[in-house]
Amino acid sequence: MSAAVRAGEPVERPAPSARTRAAFEAAKGFMPLDEGLALYAAAAEAALLGLPLLEIGTYCGRSTLLLADAARAAGVTVVTVDHHRGSEEQQPGWEYHDPELVDPRVGRMDTLPAFRRTLHAAGLEEHVVALVGRSPQIAALWGTPLGLVFVDGGHTEEHATADYEGWTPHLAPGGLLAIHDVFPDPADGGQAPHHIHERALASGAFTPLPATGSLRLLRRR
Ligand SMILES: C[S@@+](CC[C@H](N)C(=O)[O-])C[C@H]1O[C@@H](n2cnc3c(N)ncnc32)[C@H](O)[C@@H]1O
Repeated sequence: MSAAVRAGEPVERPAPSARTRAAFEAAKGFMPLDEGLALYAAAAEAALLGLPLLEIGTYCGRSTLLLADAARAAGVTVVTVDHHRGSEEQQPGWEYHDPELVDPRVGRMDTLPAFRRTLHAAGLEEHVVALVGRSPQIAALWGTPLGLVFVDGGHTEEHATADYEGWTPHLAPGGLLAIHDVFPDPADGGQAPHHIHERALASGAFTPLPATGSLRLLRRR
């Protein structure tokens, strides 16, 4: 405990700037504010390792904004991975489809332009490298240790498992693994993120940290 903090007093959690928070709330996306603030605090802590922060699942940049704000404060870079064609549940006819995100010339979803506008409006472009492609293909080329791996890509068993297996080996000791949309009760949501969370716990390689909503955090031993 720092000398400035007295026993029993609440410890202040790092928080994004007012501009980033407003941009987060205005951006298209699925992450609620309480989970976003917890993700920011985790990213701020992980960024102190001085290593890049990695996100799988950029979508329109809602969560990327928070990682970028934390990266800016620590002088590190966010790498965010997405093929920008949307997950299964975001395709036409499915629950999370947004027709505004379809490129009419191609007839497929394209979230890259919205993502670029989101980052630009928040003044955070220079802190983010966006990789457009399939997560396992990029993971297979990757060779740099990471301070944070945030898994919020495809939510099928195939995709979540590939993200876990492809990216967690690059997490540095002391680095944080964050997994979004973890629902232990199948009535609340798909089970793939829950399964990789269980797998991380069973591996013995991680110490669990407090959860917020469906966001789970673990520290690499
Ligand atoms: C739930 S959204 C991400 C939401 C975002 N993190 C936010 O907070 O707004 C999931 C994203 O993962 C992407 N995705 C799904 N499977 C992928 C894969 N195998 N490789 C790369 N991106 C993928 C989709 O295109 C989609 O944009």
